[in-house]
Amino acid sequence: MRKNIVAGNWKMNTTLQEGVALAKEVNEALKNQQPKCDVVICVPFTHLASVNQVIDPEKLGLGAENCADHVKGAYTGEVSAPMVASTGATYVILGHSERRQYYGETSETLKTKVNLALENNLTPIFCIGEVLEERENGTYSQVVKAQIEEALFNLTAEEFSKIVLAYEPVWAIGTGKTATAEQAQDMHAFIRQTIADRYGKEIADNTSILYGGSCKPSNAAELFAKPDVDGGLIGGAALEAASFMGIVTAF
Ligand code: G3H
Repeated sequence: MRKNIVAGNWKMNTTLQEGVALAKEVNEALKNQQPKCDVVICVPFTHLASVNQVIDPEKLGLGAENCADHVKGAYTGEVSAPMVASTGATYVILGHSERRQYYGETSETLKTKVNLALENNLTPIFCIGEVLEERENGTYSQVVKAQIEEALFNLTAEEFSKIVLAYEPVWAIGTGKTATAEQAQDMHAFIRQTIADRYGKEIADNTSILYGGSCKPSNAAELFAKPDVDGGLIGGAALEAASFMGIVTAF
């Protein structure tokens, strides 16, 4: 059966020292807990190796927020999937809307990144979601379906079964405006059906689909209670151990 997962996405926040301190705090808070979900923190590249030294991998997973679409070579400033894996990280966020919007990531690039992540034993947390205009003009389901089809449906069933999806309506990210639990459930059920149509019901039922967008301790329980919402990808509320743990314990 599919896993529940709460993953933090720190984005471009914290210095190395602040990040290591935050990771230690989350790790400490998890010591005496038996959460009903896997807990992961996705941190800036600069923090990966140091954070890996201070966390218990049995309790807290580690991921990057992106990886390059090449394995190695003359790509100044890029960080490859093998480099990420060599730090001890086992997850990588791919296709976050901020990367699509500000860094021009396309389904074509993402397809390559997903393949490289899988080849390097990194679990992609693959983000999909519509912008406000698409929500308002009613095209959001088709937009999300196309994002999944274009970047992921070239995968074999075995490969696809290693993917975690995160539905993040762009209008809800960092805005304080969460999708209602019903809106999230509707989209998650639609996404699961889209997967079932391509890979069959068993793989669809085993795929974890996280919700992201202004998820916080006060709304997490209602979102996670929905049958197709398998956890969250948490931005702002992951930057403090107390609020992150408030979401982890909402299951
Ligand atoms: O990856 C996380 C999402 O972008 C959500 O961010 O929780 O700050 O709205 P947020």
